[in-house]
Amino acid sequence: MEKRKINIAIDGHSSAGKSTMAKALAKELNFIYVDTGAMYRAATLFCIKERLVQTNEIDSSKVEVAIDRMYLGFKYNSKSERSEIHLGGVNVEEDIRSMEVSRKVSLVAAIPAVRHKLVDLQQRMAENGGVVMDGRDIGTVVIPHAEAKFFITADPEVRAHRRLREIQVSQPNFQLSEVLSNILERDRIDSNRSASPLRQAKDAIVLDNSQLSEDEQLAFLLTHVRKAIAGA
Ligand code: DC
Repeated sequence: MEKRKINIAIDGHSSAGKSTMAKALAKELNFIYVDTGAMYRAATLFCIKERLVQTNEIDSSKVEVAIDRMYLGFKYNSKSERSEIHLGGVNVEEDIRSMEVSRKVSLVAAIPAVRHKLVDLQQRMAENGGVVMDGRDIGTVVIPHAEAKFFITADPEVRAHRRLREIQVSQPNFQLSEVLSNILERDRIDSNRSASPLRQAKDAIVLDNSQLSEDEQLAFLLTHVRKAIAGA
């Protein structure tokens, strides 16, 4: 177990394997893993249930009002051995991974009132250190003073193949082209929105994992994290 409870920020493109790496890192260090993408996905599910989002349109002024009624939180599940996201007290860990949520999440994540509420929650989770948090704006906005920051990316086709393998477990006929276009569209919206766009923090270490195994990536991250812990 590591003594120093530093914070670790992991940002990067959709389906670049951030959460796999962040989970592995948190386990290795005995830190808490926070999946901020799950929080934006749960906010999207909330907007869908409240009928505030259509295919390409969202009524942001209605979302601003409704968001006060949204209760999000993580609860530890001893069976899966991880913290799972709950919306209004209901476990929505599976529902937030649907293609419908994936298609609409960038619209919801671009609304300043949504970001404001979720960033506030995330900052409170990181208050005492010992957190590995993954997302898009963690090193730039949520915890800009994190002691270790990484920016993870990979070739879009590699990312689409990885994501397709996950989807095909439950939907064997799913097509690569649909996954690839969703990834490219999310890259475009995430990088171009005005509220906290996806940006590489100046002091982030970049990892392109297109050609790396999970073990190689974890070894890379741990080398840098151990240096950060020693210097903290
Ligand atoms: O990591 P993910 O693919 O589950 O994230 C879902 C969406 O949420 C993604 O399209 C961008 C958005 N997101 C964000 O805007 N800021 C974050 N910190 C995390 C995710």
